[in-house]
Amino acid sequence: MRNLAPAISLLICLLMSNGAALAAEEPCAATLNANCQACHSKARICQSLEKKNKGAWQRTIKNMIRKGARLSEAEGASLADCLASAPTGADFVCK
Ligand code: HEC
Repeated sequence: MRNLAPAISLLICLLMSNGAALAAEEPCAATLNANCQACHSKARICQSLEKKNKGAWQRTIKNMIRKGARLSEAEGASLADCLASAPTGADFVCK
C-alpha cells in the first residue's frame, strides 16, 4: 500500500493539471473566436501550432494588434500561453 502513495499522488496531479489545461482553453477559445477571425480563418493559426514558442506567439499577436486586431495585453498574453502549449490540430484552434 505504502508503495502506491507516490503513484497515486502523481496520478492525482496529472488529472488536476489536465483539468486545469482544459479550463484554461476556454477563455482562449473565446478570444480566438471573437478577435482572430475578422481578417483570416483560424486555419491560419492552426498551421503554426507547435511551430511557434511562446515568444513567437507574443510577437505574432502584437503584430496582429498592429494590423488592427482588438484585444487587450492580458488577453494577448494568455492567448500566447495557450497557443504555445496547444498540440498540433488542437480542437479549440483547428475546428
Ligand atoms: C485586422 C486584421 C487581422 C486580425 C484581427 C488578425 N490577423 Fe492574423 N493576420 C493578418 C494578416 C493581414 C496576416 C498576413 C500577413 C502576415 O503574415 O503578417 C495575418 C497572418 C496571421 C498568421 C500567419 C503569419 C504569422 O505571423 O505566423 C497568424 C499565425 C495569425 N495571423 C494569427 C492571428 C491571431 C492569433 C489573431 C488574433 C489575436 C489574428 N491573427 C487576428 C491580419 C489579422
